[in-house]
Amino acid sequence: MSKTELPPGPRGRFLTGHLREFADTRLEFMTDCARTHGDISTFRIATIRIFLVNHPDLIERVLVTDARRYIKHFGARMYKPVLGNGLVTSEGDFWLRQRRLAQPAFARARLNTYGGQMVELTVRHLRQWQPGQQRNVMAEMSTLTSAIALKTLFGLEATAEREAYTDALREAFSLLSAPLRRVLRWPRWVPTPHNRRLNQAIRRLDELVLGFIDQGRRRAEPGTDLLSTLLHAQDEDGSRMTNAQLRDEAMTLYLAGHETTALTLGWTWYVLAQHPHIEERLVAEWRQVLDGRPPTIEDLPRLRYTEQVVMEAMRLYPPVYLIGREALEETDLGGYRVKRGTTIFLSQWVTHRDPRYFEDPLTFKPERWEPERARLIPKYAYFPFGGGPRICIGNHFAMMEAVLLLATIGQQYRFQLLPDPPVILWPLVTLVPMYGIPVHLERRAGARPYEEVPASFCHSV
Ligand code: HEM
Repeated sequence: MSKTELPPGPRGRFLTGHLREFADTRLEFMTDCARTHGDISTFRIATIRIFLVNHPDLIERVLVTDARRYIKHFGARMYKPVLGNGLVTSEGDFWLRQRRLAQPAFARARLNTYGGQMVELTVRHLRQWQPGQQRNVMAEMSTLTSAIALKTLFGLEATAEREAYTDALREAFSLLSAPLRRVLRWPRWVPTPHNRRLNQAIRRLDELVLGFIDQGRRRAEPGTDLLSTLLHAQDEDGSRMTNAQLRDEAMTLYLAGHETTALTLGWTWYVLAQHPHIEERLVAEWRQVLDGRPPTIEDLPRLRYTEQVVMEAMRLYPPVYLIGREALEETDLGGYRVKRGTTIFLSQWVTHRDPRYFEDPLTFKPERWEPERARLIPKYAYFPFGGGPRICIGNHFAMMEAVLLLATIGQQYRFQLLPDPPVILWPLVTLVPMYGIPVHLERRAGARPYEEVPASFCHSV
């Protein structure tokens, strides 16, 4: 029998509840809520009732066992103007059909082709760097993963088209992510200056993506890029995606796929710069496995410590730090009644730092991911890619990209953090450093520039 009362939680204001705390200091606020009030706690963002869930078994219930009782929450729906009915924002049978059509593009054999392209684009990117320069390593990672996404998704090289696309996307997203405190927004058809700019950016995006799709359709031979796979994907009944569906999926995959990986890499460099002894162990692995040449996908099984470093960085700085769901029907969770329409928050930030599951939780310890020790961590205490049917479709793509890029870049350069501007956590849709991560570039001792390395390493490009 379910309890009828609400889970415990902090007392909020009469009308706005905890809107202010959530808008201003959400990481600290949610951590506090979970540590003080237990595995299920509750608070209110204005009229929206939230249950914050912080136990691996209950997280599994929401994401996996009871997945069909929930849809994505209001936060995900906010991005529909740009993402349309793509994989991240769609629901039900439509989502399932699209997921099945997209899945072959993420099959192991296909990922292997992308691996070579990732390394080649990174080697090219490094040619713009010089030891002694100061750079924002987060912005660098974002430019690089954007180039990789456009190449692997659309088969596009660095062109003016690519820049126009990324500019329009950035504009649309910054307009959509207007601060949460602005609860009152005009509907998109009201011609406010904000909406006019947003609609213009979306129109520009549509033109560009439909142009990519048109180019893809006109190609005699299907390319190896993901858009080509989607263009030629057929459902069991023989039907294909329409241009409108392709547009939504292309936009979704580009967006979901590049910023998250850039953040993973940016935060990894940030923690590595503060842990020289861990960096030394990484360099030793690269020396032993790669001996100064860029990695290939065949090296991945032996870059074990590199992978553990990435996993540990994503534990402490999860790019997606919050997953939200909304109950479709009345159900129960951890002994509490969840009314239809209740919003459930699962926070990687909160759970990944819980001392019950991670000893010494604030310390960066890649060794905790050694297979013998990792076995002891409850499955849903660590969920950087979500779980269940809506688990990140790009999780293997992302892990491969992060490990390959870390090794390719790390063999050539080390980064020294600069004090100004400071690194400040800014939890938006993803966990962003507010002013980036400023670093000083140093050539790694004994590194030979890749120009001197034989070009044959790129055999799979
Ligand atoms: C380190 C990098 C990444 C992280 C941390 C990440 C994280 C996530 C998470 C947590 C979800 C589940 C959200 C939810 O359940 O509400 C998700 C979904 C998704 N991700 Fe990723 N992601 C990453 C990289 C990628 C890449 C590289 C791609 C594509 C190339 C991608 C495409 C998607 C898509 C399409 C979905 C929606 C899947 C569905 O609902 O069927 N992601 N991602």
